[in-house]
Amino acid sequence: MKLLTGNSNPALAQAIADYLEMPLTKADVRRFADEEVFVEIHENVRGEDMFVIQSTSFPANDNLMELLICIDALRRASATRITAVLPYFGYARQDRKPGPRTPISAKLVANLITTAGADRVLAVDLHAGQIQGFFDIPTDNLYAAPVMSADILSRSGGENLMVVSPDVGGVVRARALARRLGNAPLSIVDKRRDKPGQSEVQNIIGDVKGWDCILIDDIIDSGGTLCNAAQALMDAGAKSVTAYLTHGVLSGAAIDRVNMSALKELVITDTIQPTDGAQASGKIRVLSIAPLVGEAIRRIADESSVSSLFD
Ligand code: R5P
Repeated sequence: MKLLTGNSNPALAQAIADYLEMPLTKADVRRFADEEVFVEIHENVRGEDMFVIQSTSFPANDNLMELLICIDALRRASATRITAVLPYFGYARQDRKPGPRTPISAKLVANLITTAGADRVLAVDLHAGQIQGFFDIPTDNLYAAPVMSADILSRSGGENLMVVSPDVGGVVRARALARRLGNAPLSIVDKRRDKPGQSEVQNIIGDVKGWDCILIDDIIDSGGTLCNAAQALMDAGAKSVTAYLTHGVLSGAAIDRVNMSALKELVITDTIQPTDGAQASGKIRVLSIAPLVGEAIRRIADESSVSSLFD
């Protein structure tokens, strides 16, 4: 088995390689003068079980093309099996038609990855579980919840915790985390979004007064959902609000918004390489997902159980 990476998150790829105690495959993933992507693999991969580690995060289209072209290069170099490792699957939020004459881009991207030559997919916290069904190849969806719950318990001892979903769509994820925290109580923020990119808190389902609230979600993008939810929880009497998010997209003014928010802390994982701004923020902390992804890669290569990672 061998690991190959594009340019989207070299730090995570190296951390996964370190966990597996193996080097990354020597390759160049670079641009021609006109910005076309070019990939050249500098070692033999014939007959290898290849894992291509590439988040399709910002710049999403460039990183997606790198992934597709890496897969094509491996296929033409006679790799036996190619697994697309997508710590962050960009386009996942476009998983249904929000209106007439709109695309389902998550399905299109799944088709592109399969057509390029991927035999399997390994993703982390897909925006919706059913996106696995967009791929007609085996797809493993890892959960960051065990990494988060270990961190929460080591910091708080599990006392006075209430898990909060920032919207109705995230309740299943929140319930799973609550179970890992010894069946912590659960509340829900009923959010209504009038326009894309804007969010508005409407109502809190549950009594959060006096609790240390743990907000959990898959993605922080503009930060609107999370910061509004944090403010609503504090206004409703929460003692503190800490947020755990798998994918720190953090576009535009999101970091400033987090820095000025009612949040005590925002904890993200490194599925997307944290920007300098995120690293410099006193409110943002990063947990590494590398051991989880590395262990899943090892198990796929060994043909052993991946789901038992979450028992
Ligand atoms: C929505 O369904 C997602 O789970 C996130 O809540 C959303 O993508 C966050 O976006 P933003 O940070 O821009 O509010």
